[in-house]
Amino acid sequence: MGNVVVVGSQWGDEGKGKIVDWLSERADVVVRFQGGHNAGHTLVVDGKVYKLSLMPSGVVRGGKISVIGNGVVVDPWALLSEMDKLRDQGVDITSETLQIAANATLIMPYHRELDALREDATKGVKIGTTRRGIGPAYEDKVGRRAIRVCDLQSRETIEARLEVALTHHNAVRRGLGQPEVDGKVIADELMTLAPQILPYMHNVWRTLDDAQKSGKKILFEGAQGSLLDIDHGTYPFVTSSNTVAGQAAGGSGMGPRALDYVLGITKAYTTRVGSGPFPSEQDNEVGQYLGEKGHEFGTVTGRSRRCGWFDAVLVRQSLTIGGVDGIALTKLDVLDGMDELKVCVGYKHKGEVIDYLPYGMEDQAAIEPVYETLEGWQESTFGARSWADLPATAVKYIRRIEELIGVPVALLSTSPERDDTILVRDPFQD
Ligand code: GDP
Ligand code: IMO
Ligand code: MG
Repeated sequence: MGNVVVVGSQWGDEGKGKIVDWLSERADVVVRFQGGHNAGHTLVVDGKVYKLSLMPSGVVRGGKISVIGNGVVVDPWALLSEMDKLRDQGVDITSETLQIAANATLIMPYHRELDALREDATKGVKIGTTRRGIGPAYEDKVGRRAIRVCDLQSRETIEARLEVALTHHNAVRRGLGQPEVDGKVIADELMTLAPQILPYMHNVWRTLDDAQKSGKKILFEGAQGSLLDIDHGTYPFVTSSNTVAGQAAGGSGMGPRALDYVLGITKAYTTRVGSGPFPSEQDNEVGQYLGEKGHEFGTVTGRSRRCGWFDAVLVRQSLTIGGVDGIALTKLDVLDGMDELKVCVGYKHKGEVIDYLPYGMEDQAAIEPVYETLEGWQESTFGARSWADLPATAVKYIRRIEELIGVPVALLSTSPERDDTILVRDPFQD
């Protein structure tokens, strides 16, 4: 029995929010450890929909401690607006139940602007980011010019840190023909919101250590997915953080031995938002069917998600790199009613068949998927709550996926609703 890390196995939007909410019943603390409000995690509880971006998905259940770890980039304006929205929905958020790491990096308005300027530029690679300033904020963190939550405690510190940051950013802005940022205006704004943020500031490493020592259970909530990981993903079409399970330790202030079980949230087909390679993409009526039936529109930006067949090569690679122990297979119900299903089992590359995604951009663009065809099912699996309710062909599809990816199914999700979830093995007990 121990702590569980939830990560996405594909390009995000696998249903992490739903599964974290479901699992949070068994946990005492839920921790975000990377990413920011580029994440959009949807929970449906008794028909009521909650959309979370920065807030850990355990917050809706109440009675849990929600932690925003040091690995997260926090837009303080977005945080306050999300808190307001959740409170309006009846969610209780107090300085006891929400803890934000004192050493977490803040996203500033000039990060958001730079993100958008780059996306709108006519030259260069268009990533199709969420335009939330995530990349520029992580750049400042690594460049040692970030402003952190703890800096909000004094005007002097804010001004000193802004001077460092703006020496860089104003030079970049001049180069882009943009007006310079006035540090005083931002310092004033930060001083206004500081009293609303500081009550939540904590040394979260100590909170987590105390929780661990007193036998409490910790659930780590990943954002994005392994294929968007800055190192292991389809670079440069990735996000700017490590999204794999190992980051749960560094991004929260716990040792790697605290991570007992890694659950990979895995969609029964594949989707991707934004640009970049997608070997099994179906830019045709199959993709359209999946997109419509699966409501594949981005939670954060409303963009249509690109859809395609399940890619066992990519998922196996993600699960291996992330050290995943079991998967939660989601959105199986979206495949109901299809005559046949295809699964990508290899790639044709330079005259041979390979079983991995090569790193080079040219190689990635050149590969061709090799498919295996499986029989579909006409029965509905929507809302199924027991294995026995599944048609034999659906079970066959699941078993074949398990075989191809080499990792067992621990949970199966059959609708957006919290309780439409089948437990096969309990990650907290495994
Ligand atoms: P996340 O970013 O990984 O948390 O996923 P999102 O919330 O962005 O996208 C997943 C979408 O699928 C949400 O609208 C969920 O409500 C929905 N969803 C989750 N699990 C299931 C499922 O098993 N079946 C169906 N039909 N929808 C699901
Ligand atoms: P959740 O947690 C899907 C994608 C963006 C873009 C790339 C870089 O809901 O699964 P960024 O704004 O991070 O610099 O954008 O990453 N992206 C996501 N795609 N789900 C997400 O989060 C994503 N967060 C970022 O679309 O391609
Ligand atoms: Mg999402």
